Amino acid sequence: MSASDAGRAGLPAPVAAAAELAAGCLAWRVADRPIRRLQDLIPSHPMKRKHLMTHNRRPLLALALVLPMALAACSGGPAGPAGPAAGDAYQPQADTLQVYSAQHIEVTEAVAAAFTKETGIPTQVRDGQDSSMGHMIVEEGDSSPADVFLTENSPAMTLVEREGLLAPVDGSTLDQVREGLAPSSGLWAPIAARSTVLVYNKDLISEEDLPSSMMDLADPKWAGKWGAAPGGADFQAIAAGMLAERGEAETRAWLQALADNAEVYQNNIATMKAVNAGEVPVGIMYHYYWYRDQAGDRQGSANTQLHYFGGEDPGAFVSLSAGGVLASSDMPEQAQKFLEYVTGPKGQQALVDSGSMEYAVGTGVESAPALPPLDKLEAPAVDVSTLNSDKVIALMTDVGIL
Ligand SMILES: [Fe+2]
Repeated sequence: MSASDAGRAGLPAPVAAAAELAAGCLAWRVADRPIRRLQDLIPSHPMKRKHLMTHNRRPLLALALVLPMALAACSGGPAGPAGPAAGDAYQPQADTLQVYSAQHIEVTEAVAAAFTKETGIPTQVRDGQDSSMGHMIVEEGDSSPADVFLTENSPAMTLVEREGLLAPVDGSTLDQVREGLAPSSGLWAPIAARSTVLVYNKDLISEEDLPSSMMDLADPKWAGKWGAAPGGADFQAIAAGMLAERGEAETRAWLQALADNAEVYQNNIATMKAVNAGEVPVGIMYHYYWYRDQAGDRQGSANTQLHYFGGEDPGAFVSLSAGGVLASSDMPEQAQKFLEYVTGPKGQQALVDSGSMEYAVGTGVESAPALPPLDKLEAPAVDVSTLNSDKVIALMTDVGIL
C-alpha cells in the first residue's frame, strides 16, 4: 500500500505514511526474536527519526495505531493480511453487506459464509486490525461503506461507539448472549470471548513459583524473566482492563516495568514460542493460541503449561470480541440480521467449529471441550464500555514501549 493509496482510503497523513512503512516491511522482515522497543524493528527507516524521535505526540500515536498492522504484515505468522493496508484492493460491491472485520479473518470468513448460505444475503469482508480499523471507521464517518464492524477486542468498538456511529442492536440479538456480557449501552454485542493467561515453561519454573498476580511481574525480581507482545491489540485490551480496574498510576507503573524489564515479542505466538524455547520462563498471552497449538503438532507449546490467575486479578481479564451495526448502514435490516446470526446458535457453532478455540458467548452453544468453562475463570468485573485502548497506547508511548 502506498501513502497515496492510504490517502485515497481516507487515512490521515501520518497514518498513511506508517501504512506505507507497513507495506515496506518486507525489506526488513525480522525473526521471532525479542525486541526491546518496537522502533528497533525499523533501524534505518527515515520514519524512525521523523516520527518516533519527536516531541509531537500525534505522529507517535498515529504510528502506534498502525504499528500492529506493520507487525502483522511482517510476522509471516498467522496474523493474516495487513489490516486496512490490504484495503488498497478493497472495492465495496453493490448490494452486498460490507463487514469490516478486525476479528481473526478465518473466523469472520467462516461465519460470513455460513450466514450467506443460510440467508442468501451476500457479504464482503474487509480485513483489518482493531485500532487502525476502528480509527478508519471514525475517519470515514457517515460515508463509511461499512454496514457491520466486528472487532477482535472490544476497545476498538467503544472507540466507534464514543463517536456516535453505532445503531442500537436488536433486543432479540442481545437476548441470545449470555447474561452479564453485553454492554449496558446496547450498542454492540459480544460475539466471542478470550482469556488472559500466563504461559510458563515447565522446565524453568514450577507452578508454586509463579506470580499470584499479573501485577507482581513489575517486581524487579522478575526482570528479564517475562515476555509479552504489547504492540498488539490483544495485549492492549488486557492493559485497558487493568487501566479501568486499577487506575492510571498503577497501570503506568506496571507498563514502565514492562518497558524496563520484559522481553517484547511481535505477537502472542512469538511470546509462546519464546517461553517454549526457554528464552523466558513466563509470558502473557491469550488462551486460544496455546490451545490451537496443543490441538495441532504442539511444536510451539510442548514444554509449556498455562496458568490462570483467577481471583478477579487483572491477569484474569476476559476480553470480548464485539459486533456492531453502523448507524450509516444502507442495509440496516440485513446488518442486524447478520449480528443476530453471529450471536445465534448457528453463528456461535460456526465459531466453535472454526477451531479458533475462542469462547462462544451465545446461550446454548458449548465452547471447545478442552477449555476451562468461561464462568469459572474468575475474571475481574470490568465495565466494558469504559475500556480505552487509545489511552493505553498513549501510556505505552509515554513509558517508551512504543
Ligand atoms: Fe488474537
